[in-house]
Amino acid sequence: MAKEPARILVTGAAGQIGYALVPMIARGIMLGADQPVILHLLDIPPAAEALNGVKMELVDAAFPLLKGVVATTDVVEACNGVNIAVMVGGFPRKEGMERKDVMTKNVSIYRSQASALEKHAAPNCKVLVVANPANTNALILKEFAPSIPEKNITCLTRLDHNRALGQVSERLNVQVSDVKNVIIWGNHSSSQYPDVNHATVKTPSGEKGVRELVADDAWLNGEFISTVQQRGAAIIKARKLSSALSAASSACDHIRDWVLGTPEGTWVSMGVYSDGSYDVPSGLIFSFPVTCQHGEWKIVQGLSIDEFSRKKLDATAEELSEEKALAYSCLS
Ligand code: NAD
Ligand code: LMR
Repeated sequence: MAKEPARILVTGAAGQIGYALVPMIARGIMLGADQPVILHLLDIPPAAEALNGVKMELVDAAFPLLKGVVATTDVVEACNGVNIAVMVGGFPRKEGMERKDVMTKNVSIYRSQASALEKHAAPNCKVLVVANPANTNALILKEFAPSIPEKNITCLTRLDHNRALGQVSERLNVQVSDVKNVIIWGNHSSSQYPDVNHATVKTPSGEKGVRELVADDAWLNGEFISTVQQRGAAIIKARKLSSALSAASSACDHIRDWVLGTPEGTWVSMGVYSDGSYDVPSGLIFSFPVTCQHGEWKIVQGLSIDEFSRKKLDATAEELSEEKALAYSCLS
C-alpha cells in the first residue's frame, strides 16, 4: 500500500540552500524513493514573489513523489501538521564575518518560530536547524518550544562531517564511500573539532585506521583540521555566497539517517542536546558521533579521548557556552 505523504517544512525556501534542497526532497533523496511528500515552504514577505517562482518550478518539474506544495509567508500555515522541519531561514554569513556575527538577527527569528512549531507541527515532528549560528539557534528553538521533546531538535554538522570524509578521501586517493566514522565534535564554527582517531577506510585487506594510512600526524593534527574548520569561509571567498548544494545534500543525509537509520558499524555527526556524555556540559546543542535506529539517535559511547582531543572538545564547548550567554543577552 502506498505510504501517506510526509509533510516537510523548509524555512527560507526562496534562498539559495532552499533552491538546492527542495528538488532533492521532492526526488526522494531525503526520505526514500517510496515516500511521497508535501512541501511546506516558508519565507518572508519581501521574498514572496521569488518563493512563488520556486513553487512554479516544483510544479513544472512534475516530481512523481511530490503530492502538494504550500508556499506561504504565514508561519502558522507553514508549520501546520509538519512531520519534519528544516530550518534554513535567516541571514547568511558574508565574507569576513564569523558565524556568531549573525547571531542577533537569527536568534530572535528562532524564538518566534519555536512557538509556531510547538503549537502547529505534528506530534513528534523532527527539527533540523541549518541557519547559523546553527547550534545556538537550535538551542533557542528548544528553550522556546518546551513541549517538543529535546531529542527532536538537532542542528546540522553533517556538512562538516562530509567535508572531513572528503578531505581524507582526497588525501588517500580512495573513494569517499570507503571512508567512515570521522567525528565532528562541538560547534558548527571554526572551533569545531574534526577528529579522525576512530575513522577507518575500507581496503582490499580489510578496514584500516585513517591515522595508520595517512601516516602523517602533523597533517592530521594541523592542516586537515583547519581545512575542515575553515571550509565554509573558503566557499564564501570563492563563490561570494555561502555553501548551498553541499549544505542541502548534507541536510538530506542528516534527516535520512535519522529517520531510516545509520548503516551497521557506521556513525555520523549530529548536533544534539548534550546529556553530559564525554564530559561535555549539558544544556548545549553539541555535535557528537551518533548512530540512529527506529527514528532515534543515540550518542556513541566509550570512545577514547586523548589529551589533544580533550583540549579541542573543551574549547568548542567553551565557545558554545559563550554563544549561549550572548544569545540570551540578544533576547533580553
Ligand atoms: P539565503 O540568504 O540565500 O536564504 C535565506 C532565506 O531565508 C532568504 O530567502 C530569506 O528571505 C529567508 N528568511 C529570512 N528571515 C526569515 C524568516 N524569519 N522566516 C523565514 N525565512 C526567512 O541564505 P542561504 O545561503 O540559503 O543560507 C541560509 C542559512 O544557512 C544561513 O544562516 C547560512 O549561514 C546557513 N548555513 C548553514 C550551514 C550548516 O552547515 N549548518 C551551511 C550553509 C549555510
Ligand atoms: C558553511 O559551513 O558553509 C556555512 O555554515 C556557511 C558559513 O557561514 O560558513
